[in-house]
Amino acid sequence: MALLTLRSALADAEKGGYAVGAFNVSSLDQAIAVLEAAEAESSPVIVQAIAGMSAYDDESRWWSRLRALVSEFDGVPAVLHLDHGRTYDDCLRAIDHGFTSVMIDASRAADTDEPASFEDNVALTRRVVEAATRSGVSVEGELGTIGGAEAGIAGELEEIVFADPDQAVEFVEQTRVDALAVAVGTSHGSVKFTDAAGGGRLRLGLISEIKERLPDTFLVLHGSSSVPAEAVAVINANGGAVRPSYGISPEQKSEGIAAGIRKINQGTDSHLAWSAALRAFLHDNPAVVEPGEQLRPAMGGFRAMVTQRMREFGSSGRA
Ligand code: 13P
Repeated sequence: MALLTLRSALADAEKGGYAVGAFNVSSLDQAIAVLEAAEAESSPVIVQAIAGMSAYDDESRWWSRLRALVSEFDGVPAVLHLDHGRTYDDCLRAIDHGFTSVMIDASRAADTDEPASFEDNVALTRRVVEAATRSGVSVEGELGTIGGAEAGIAGELEEIVFADPDQAVEFVEQTRVDALAVAVGTSHGSVKFTDAAGGGRLRLGLISEIKERLPDTFLVLHGSSSVPAEAVAVINANGGAVRPSYGISPEQKSEGIAAGIRKINQGTDSHLAWSAALRAFLHDNPAVVEPGEQLRPAMGGFRAMVTQRMREFGSSGRA
């Protein structure tokens, strides 16, 4: 099956009232786990990669192979998406490698990581939209800043700039993005809230406010991992040292979908599932050195987590 653009996958999600999971991958094994989950669930899927973040030194070779792999899964309606492109060049390289969707994250200046001015964000995003449109590729932009350890953005629990509904309208009018990541208090990485009440600080009401004013723009939730305590416990019981914390609950994600979220980004939960399964396996099988035997449980953990999320997001059975 030909790869889908983000616009066409999310248009179907809009009609069906569900969200499509966008799962971060940094190796071919992880991509296979995501695509196998989508195939088994008959679910559409967004496979996403971040520039500069993979198991390989040669990004061009990695992206070419990823593109070929996604195309091989014939029956899976899949989008290949660049997550958090920081520069015009990141987005152009992804388009040249056959990605069908790119995110330009111009909400922060690429050189200083400081929140960018609205005008600078608009200018860079519009440039990317113009180039992507010529290639039939969709574009996601970001308004407000999502905290945590984004691509190349160090630190945790940093100040979040919430999306402003008036600015969202202006941003979309001026850039013509297909999809918009709205900052509502989520953050990237395995430490989101250090107290159980942290999730209460999300401003999910912003989603419906923005959706009402931008009915034709697809809204995206970043930093959505739930950080399952069981996975963290397994990692730490087997030699790991992941700081226990609190994530976004499945109920909050459902609330977001009901309010108009159509794409949900998830990296951390799958990574925790991979690490937990791999560490437990190596602990229980200390004599096993065959990489295929080690990878099998890791891929299984990754696949199971993605499968669970597809069911929660309502995309299972929608292929
Ligand atoms: P998590 O770290 O919460 O999985 O978020 C990932 C993400 O939003 C990537 O863009």
